[in-house]
Amino acid sequence: MRETGAQPAYSSLPGAEQGVLIQSMVQYPGSRLTTAGEAWRQVRNQWIIPYGGALLLVAVLALALFYWRRGPLGGHLPDTGRRVERFTPFERSAHLLNAASFTVLAISGLVMAFGKFVLLPVIGSTLFGWLTYALKTAHNFVGPLFAVTLVIMIITFVRDNLPRAGDLGWLVRAGGMIGGQEVPSHRFNAGEKVLFWAGVLVLGGIVVGSGLVLDKVLPGLAYLRGDMQVAHMIHAAAAMLMMALFLGHIYMGTIGTRGAWQGMRTGWVDEAWAAEHHALWLADIRAGKIPAQRSSEPMPANLSPVEGTR
Ligand code: HEM
Repeated sequence: MRETGAQPAYSSLPGAEQGVLIQSMVQYPGSRLTTAGEAWRQVRNQWIIPYGGALLLVAVLALALFYWRRGPLGGHLPDTGRRVERFTPFERSAHLLNAASFTVLAISGLVMAFGKFVLLPVIGSTLFGWLTYALKTAHNFVGPLFAVTLVIMIITFVRDNLPRAGDLGWLVRAGGMIGGQEVPSHRFNAGEKVLFWAGVLVLGGIVVGSGLVLDKVLPGLAYLRGDMQVAHMIHAAAAMLMMALFLGHIYMGTIGTRGAWQGMRTGWVDEAWAAEHHALWLADIRAGKIPAQRSSEPMPANLSPVEGTR
């Protein structure tokens, strides 16, 4: 980033920017050398919005094409009626709060970014004004909630996302999703682990960190216009990447894999589901290395524990 001196004049801006009407000249990646405000506007309107929008569209089209060609994965083994606990009530509640807050943030963020192009012409300026104001307010309040639940998710799931033998083989064959037999995996397969480290930890951390700057809740920062512009560019770019990645997660967690959503909704999966999707995890359960049930939640009445685990 290149910068040249701000032009002193009269302004009623508080603090360090008093008297600075026009910001200094800067050149952000993707912008011309111009005033910081203009450079930020160029990066937002010429890069983040068009390319972010294109990325999300490509992600949706790719998933739709995959579903059309491949259909939902799994369901090749008949249910045994014997179940194992895949997620405890605590894990499910943490995930639900996190997923719900992410969804509010994603929808409100998409309206703030693209609403002007797709909603305003349809609903008119008055309604659009109220809607964006309500969604922006929701975004500012749900952001810190997402931050807290994200930390809880990271602490809760980090151990089972540590790399293990077999993960590389899984990645090389894309888990068998493109064709052929599903590759055996432990509790979480290598694809879920990549999502965890890249999506939850790295992108989640960047989106939350820059979001908290935009919310002006981090102590010790001056929150000058330039700081806010840089934080916004980082926030919006990382959020676009995260949304594209989680579209894949949401797809695999709902229509993309038979039984996956039920596992997160009830906490229990059938032995057959575990054998088909996480065979190494089930083998550890049968060997008694991992308990088939970790919470004290009573097993649903119509189910019976996996063979060999009492
Ligand atoms: C909004 C909709 C979402 C849906 C429908 C959804 C669905 C699911 C499902 C069905 C599973 C279980 C997969 C399995 O059994 O292996 C799961 C696991 C998980 N989800 Fe989500 N999810 C959503 C959003 C999120 C968000 C926003 C995050 C984090 C930012 C997240 C992080 C995780 C993690 C960490 C796991 C455990 C698996 C792992 O650690 O790799 N999910 N999700």
